[in-house]
Amino acid sequence: MTELLFRGGTVHTADGPKQADVHVTDGVITRVEQRLPVQGRVIDVSGMYVLPGGVDVHVHSRDPGFPDKEDFASLTAAAAAGGITVVLDMPNTVPAVDTAGMLESKAAMARSKARVDFGLWGLIRSSTKTDQLEAMAAAGAIGFKAYLAYSFSVSRKQVLYSPGTDDPDLEPPADYGTLAQLAPAVAHLGLPLAIHAEDPTVLAAFRRPISSYEDLLASRPPEAEAVAVSAAAAVARESGAHLHIAHLSSSLGLQAAEDAMRIGTTLTLETCPQFLLLTSDDFDRVGSAMKMLPPIRTAADREALVDGLERGAITIVGTDHAPHTDEEKSLPFEDVPAGSPGVQTLYLSCLQIAKDLGDVWLAPRWVSEAPARLVGLEGHKGAIAPGFDADLVIVDPKAKTRVHAEQMRSRQRHGVLEGMDFDFAIKDVYLRGESVANGAPARGRMVRPAMVVG
Ligand code: NCD
Ligand code: ZN
Repeated sequence: MTELLFRGGTVHTADGPKQADVHVTDGVITRVEQRLPVQGRVIDVSGMYVLPGGVDVHVHSRDPGFPDKEDFASLTAAAAAGGITVVLDMPNTVPAVDTAGMLESKAAMARSKARVDFGLWGLIRSSTKTDQLEAMAAAGAIGFKAYLAYSFSVSRKQVLYSPGTDDPDLEPPADYGTLAQLAPAVAHLGLPLAIHAEDPTVLAAFRRPISSYEDLLASRPPEAEAVAVSAAAAVARESGAHLHIAHLSSSLGLQAAEDAMRIGTTLTLETCPQFLLLTSDDFDRVGSAMKMLPPIRTAADREALVDGLERGAITIVGTDHAPHTDEEKSLPFEDVPAGSPGVQTLYLSCLQIAKDLGDVWLAPRWVSEAPARLVGLEGHKGAIAPGFDADLVIVDPKAKTRVHAEQMRSRQRHGVLEGMDFDFAIKDVYLRGESVANGAPARGRMVRPAMVVG
């Protein structure tokens, strides 16, 4: 039996921050109380915050498929260093995760490399059938993701960044019809239905060559997000499925989502640190790292998203951690692939955003509690309470961190937040009672939702 006592910290609990000791037995939290008797190894965390490990609902491991961009080892090393103890990996790896067999082989590979726990999203293609969803759920999928604007190369088994052409190898993107056909099954399985919310008909109308950031913004108007949110919400409402909007980026998209919630749609919103901290004005300083889809928009969009988070309309902050190689990110702007890494800076960004809003303790709700609930992990992850995994992040609220490329563990070290300063430092990170912040063996386990029907 291994016992640990985290003594003297300020602990995030369901009732708010509390001066308490945290006792851990064999990787599970057993007691959270003031002045517990010494039992086992004492870890002095006085003056520190003790927070629940982060759950990043939106990462792209690139594994299998693009080891030059990232793999499960480098992804989870970056996560561990940043206080993220569960990563939920998107299905657009290659071959894509569109069947139970693919999910199982990706899980086996990830288990051999993961430094933190992980969960896997399954892909919804326009050709996906109900029985494939059921099989993926039985194999442990934490939810399903549909890319409304991205076609699928059948020969390469790859999600592409474009809506497609007449090429017979390209299967068109999943559309609202696909969602309407599959949502009842997703609702029955009790898993979230996540969408990349950009409407392809709006994108087609605004399509243009992309040689500047202005072109990028003009080609991905907020109407594309709002239309996709409204239409998918109508479908979800009818079936009772839980709709999850990935990487919400615009004020218009937020309005569409809030309208849908007001009339009874079960809907969660995820936004990302880059949309809460940056605006299009940062492009001159940041450059091509800022090319991502959807794009970082105007100051008014940023303000609306921060406000939505403060009001609790947006409950989840994930990263859309999407690394590409330096070589790819140095191409002419038109050819630069979209995406930036971010998993290592998620917790610190959220602590800063929460502090700036006047309540630092909101951060663990956005990056741990609500994400764990989204994918049915409540009871094990997302809180510091007896019975939960001892996934703990020790944060020094008096130290500072500047984001330096050399400290990034992701294979792509240059993210959009490079150079940013945070009023906090992560001192240590524990995964089920073992310190993982400074390098760890591959002990990550696959997480599965608690209640899956069928
Ligand atoms: C993501 C990627 O590279 O996989 N890129 C991005 O710009 N967001 C895809 C995605 O999440 O849409
Ligand atoms: Zn996306």
